Amino acid sequence: MSRDQQSFVSGDKSSGWNPLQLDAYADYLANLSVTNPVVAMENIQTLDGQLLLAQSELLNPNSIAKLKNKILARPLANSIQITTLISPEDLLQHLLDIIRSTEYFQSLAERKHPLSSLEPVCAMLSRLPLVQQFLTVMAAQMPDLYQRTLCVSLWSLYIAQEMRLPVQDASDVFWAALVHDVGMLHLNPHILNKTDDLSADDWAHVQSHVDISNKILMMVPELSPATITAVAEHHERCDGTGYPFAKVESELSLLGQVLAVADAMVGIYFNRFKA
Ligand SMILES: [Fe+2]
Repeated sequence: MSRDQQSFVSGDKSSGWNPLQLDAYADYLANLSVTNPVVAMENIQTLDGQLLLAQSELLNPNSIAKLKNKILARPLANSIQITTLISPEDLLQHLLDIIRSTEYFQSLAERKHPLSSLEPVCAMLSRLPLVQQFLTVMAAQMPDLYQRTLCVSLWSLYIAQEMRLPVQDASDVFWAALVHDVGMLHLNPHILNKTDDLSADDWAHVQSHVDISNKILMMVPELSPATITAVAEHHERCDGTGYPFAKVESELSLLGQVLAVADAMVGIYFNRFKA
């Protein structure tokens, strides 16, 4: 058993999340499969070799039920293929749709941030098949979160460009923004959709999305360390009031601070004007 597998089996102490056990993400894949087939690309089996789902089988509620309460040999995301994935061209088009439908983005694009700067950063998606999978599931199953994620990505890129950060840093923070909330896909939807006040346990569950995002992105070696760090810091605050580690400004990366500002701006906008 590899070191990664050992840590997966024991689970993560801070969030309790274990990528070898099924959670809401499996149900999202089963739902998606109705319109966009999701297929097992290899035999899906337990750690001790019990076959649960054969290669080429379709994911649906029945096949997912066979996997529940088992410890898988590999994370489900690594064993499946979605038939139609969001492409770099789709991502670019989704960003352009937001810019053209939003007055302030339109104005920024005309005055300072040419649309041509988006194409090269979106092109990287073709080298990130797991991220393609996560964004495809998010767009179909959590469309509000996907729209917010696109807005955070635009703001992160624009802030980095405004600060005249190197092109690589601007690309890194754009990608950090696109993947910063993938952990949300693994949270209990009943807690996420609660309309009354969250209990302390509920709130801890929601906060665990940062740790889950980080654990997931460790499986995407194409993402830079700066990108991963920014994701880990996206709910930290310079005055130490953030989470999960209550870091202060001197402990935070610049890209983490850029992403946190962009995420907070979009959160305020959506909560005030789109709720
Ligand atoms: Fe977040």
